[in-house]
Amino acid sequence: MSGYSSGEQPEQGDVIKLNTNENPYPPGPAVAKALAALRVESLRRYPPPTALALRKALATLHGIEADNIVITNGGDELLRLLLATFVSPDECIATAAPSYSLYEVLAAAHGCSMQHYPLKADWSLPSNLAERLNADKVKLCFIVNPHAPSGALASAAQLASLARAFKGVLVIDEAYVNFVDPELDYNALPLIREFGNVLLLRSFSKGYSLAGLRMAYGIGPKSLIDPLQYKTKDSYNTDFIAQTLALAAVGDNDYAAGTWQKVRQQRAELRAALSALKLSSPPSQSNFLLVSVPAPHKAEQLYQGLKTAGILVRYFRLPGLDDKLRITIGAPEENQRLLRELGRLMQH
Ligand SMILES: Cc1ncc(COP(=O)(O)O)c(C=O)c1O
Repeated sequence: MSGYSSGEQPEQGDVIKLNTNENPYPPGPAVAKALAALRVESLRRYPPPTALALRKALATLHGIEADNIVITNGGDELLRLLLATFVSPDECIATAAPSYSLYEVLAAAHGCSMQHYPLKADWSLPSNLAERLNADKVKLCFIVNPHAPSGALASAAQLASLARAFKGVLVIDEAYVNFVDPELDYNALPLIREFGNVLLLRSFSKGYSLAGLRMAYGIGPKSLIDPLQYKTKDSYNTDFIAQTLALAAVGDNDYAAGTWQKVRQQRAELRAALSALKLSSPPSQSNFLLVSVPAPHKAEQLYQGLKTAGILVRYFRLPGLDDKLRITIGAPEENQRLLRELGRLMQH
């Protein structure tokens, strides 16, 4: 099998990092305060095994029960647990492709097979997806919403009809959901009450500026959460420091929501400015844009040129994506530098 190839993570600071969809704003003052208040003695004991205090805070935030939530060491741990819990090696998982490439790495590691159903040209969900999933006896299907790498958003109604017809477990990977325009009123949470087969993934990495902490959670009916919580996850899968800081972040949700608003504003401005450079991208509900590079320019050359100038973006050498760049929305001055460099590189 091949492993997952993550975006570059340079060690020194003087690089503009627009390649791994991190939030350009730092975690809020409540997190900084909780970090400063940590006492070394608190590390002597094991952490709360199911992060109950954090689950309660998240349950209040979302209007659900703590039993509907499992806390994991990043979304990636939840994805791995989902396979370990609900899929046997002789069974099949699926996704609407292209999407998060970790899914196939996890399938290969688990020894199960994987189906890819191509998204439509406008990045919307494939037609008759539920029927095709059922015909292929798919046990678990991952749908990223808003979609990565395009930023397209499927409606909660579309997901509900998929959940209703699909016989397996539907995982809606909402790693980027915090950046959706509130005016769209997107909310997939009611699906966990309506259907026994829907589980949502949420992450602290992007929305809460805590990618370095490795915290995420699954939301679902108790029947899906319990086996993850009490059977397959490690007893102490998230550490005391991460639980404490994530709790502080949830306690100051307004700060995080302020960063989402700033990212949305920058997204609109950057998309317009890129399109003025003939770098068009589909409307994005996420914190990145998938930019098409027009001939005679080449996406890989622009990626390399930007890298030489100290700006990292993501280039995928994959069919359907190799003429595009995925660019994370940065802070205003980062986006300005990106635009200047792109303008310069495209003059040649
Ligand atoms: C679509 C998608 N799902 C899940 C994740 C996992 O995020 P994390 O493990 O940082 O919570 C990512 C990370 O980039 C992602 O892009």
